[in-house]
Amino acid sequence: MKKTSVWKDDAEASHYSPLQTDLNVDVAIIGGGITGITAGYLLAHAGKSVAVLEALQIGGGTTGFSTGNLYAVVDERLYILQAKFDTDTIHDVAASRTAAIQQVENIIRGFSIDCDFHRTPFRLISETEDDTSTLQREYQACLEAGLEAYIDTMAPVPFYISAALRIEDQAQFNPMQYVKALATHIQGTGCAIFEHSKVVSIKEGSPNILYTENGSVTAENIIHATHSPKGIMAVHGLLGPYREYVLAARLNSGDYPEGICWVLNKPHHYSTRTYTSKSGENYLLVLGEPHKVGQKEANEACFDSLEAYLRTRFDIKSVEYRWSAQHYKAADSLPYIGALHPKSSVYIATGFAADGLTYGTLAAMIISDLILGIKNPWSKVYAPYRHNPLKTAGRFIKENANVFAQYLKDIPYHADVETVSSIVPGEGKTVEIEGEKFAAYRDESAELHLISAVCTHMKCIVNWNEEAKSWDCPCHGSRFTVDGQVIEGPAIANLPKKETNNLP
Ligand code: FES
Repeated sequence: MKKTSVWKDDAEASHYSPLQTDLNVDVAIIGGGITGITAGYLLAHAGKSVAVLEALQIGGGTTGFSTGNLYAVVDERLYILQAKFDTDTIHDVAASRTAAIQQVENIIRGFSIDCDFHRTPFRLISETEDDTSTLQREYQACLEAGLEAYIDTMAPVPFYISAALRIEDQAQFNPMQYVKALATHIQGTGCAIFEHSKVVSIKEGSPNILYTENGSVTAENIIHATHSPKGIMAVHGLLGPYREYVLAARLNSGDYPEGICWVLNKPHHYSTRTYTSKSGENYLLVLGEPHKVGQKEANEACFDSLEAYLRTRFDIKSVEYRWSAQHYKAADSLPYIGALHPKSSVYIATGFAADGLTYGTLAAMIISDLILGIKNPWSKVYAPYRHNPLKTAGRFIKENANVFAQYLKDIPYHADVETVSSIVPGEGKTVEIEGEKFAAYRDESAELHLISAVCTHMKCIVNWNEEAKSWDCPCHGSRFTVDGQVIEGPAIANLPKKETNNLP
């Protein structure tokens, strides 16, 4: 089994140079996923000079670990949004997300991008009679949101369902192929793309300056297209970071179901889709088992649960791929897209929950319009400075109580082990040495990797993620490699390496 996504395995490597000079542009974009590359395209197309700074490789973050589905509804459910806001808001959400899907299709057609884009039905399935009333509520919300929805008693799946909500004309594609191809088309047309160019600090002002290790970008506007905006503390308290797991399996029957299929199954949130690789192999993808980042001790067990779910419903021949991905839920369930405040030149795009490919495209559309001075019909709905204290309160209190609990958990500090000699190869544990908190990982050749266990964002203690072999912060979701390099923000600084002559 390969421990990567089908998209990444199928993709050709990109080769954009790191930033090695000082640049001056209209717009600097941090992050080369679907949000950053789409914004780069829209802005460069409108005549702006743009620089995209990607810490890793284009599409190498969340976009490359997604499931390649585009749909108008939301993971959180439209009926829940309707209860928090009103019918106008869910109408705007459905209309804006539908427009984003159309934007993706227009770009694909415009550049003749070969990325397996096709229109397909979306289904939300209830497997038990108990869930049918929830399905009916979502169906009503879909109709009130202006979506053409249907209730069926059957669906193209080989297991019992009590009912299915169906929406036609949603879409699927290969997100890596799409983003990489779009990047190729826009590079050099007013947009300069730089890979391996991590932003290490930002000086906000007029103009803004972004610093990487080997160069800087001076820009009138900054777009944070990284899920977790760097250095913007006020936003992090409004976001809940989650990880989810994906398996890609082959079936004995060869009878792969069509479309996007979500299952009402709390708290596991399963969904499936079929993907045909470039070489013509079919795979059934299943996504699910979300949990807060850094707060699950047995990450590997999430894959076991996913596989058990699949095997009780499909005739599985083999499981070929597995991967995990991260997303952030907004406090009031709507993403934060736009300028930090009405006069700010700093734009954010975050809180997409598990709906990031559609919301990422929408964020690029809204932010580009704002920068270009074009009126956008949905900018107010998603404005980061919206004031929704009552709608925000429930999750805000829950998320921050959860973060506070993570701080308290480490007072007084209880390390995982007392001695590093008890750490076996492939294992990571926290340990206290001479009053300092260490994160210790012993690799397969028995070498010990010692780094600080204190998150550089706001000083929570990181936890070991046995599945991804990373150190994950339970407070706001930062993740670090075994040598302390930042994998996911909001942390900007790496966990420093530690040396001691007194290893217990
Ligand atoms: Fe905020 Fe670690 S991510 S303290």
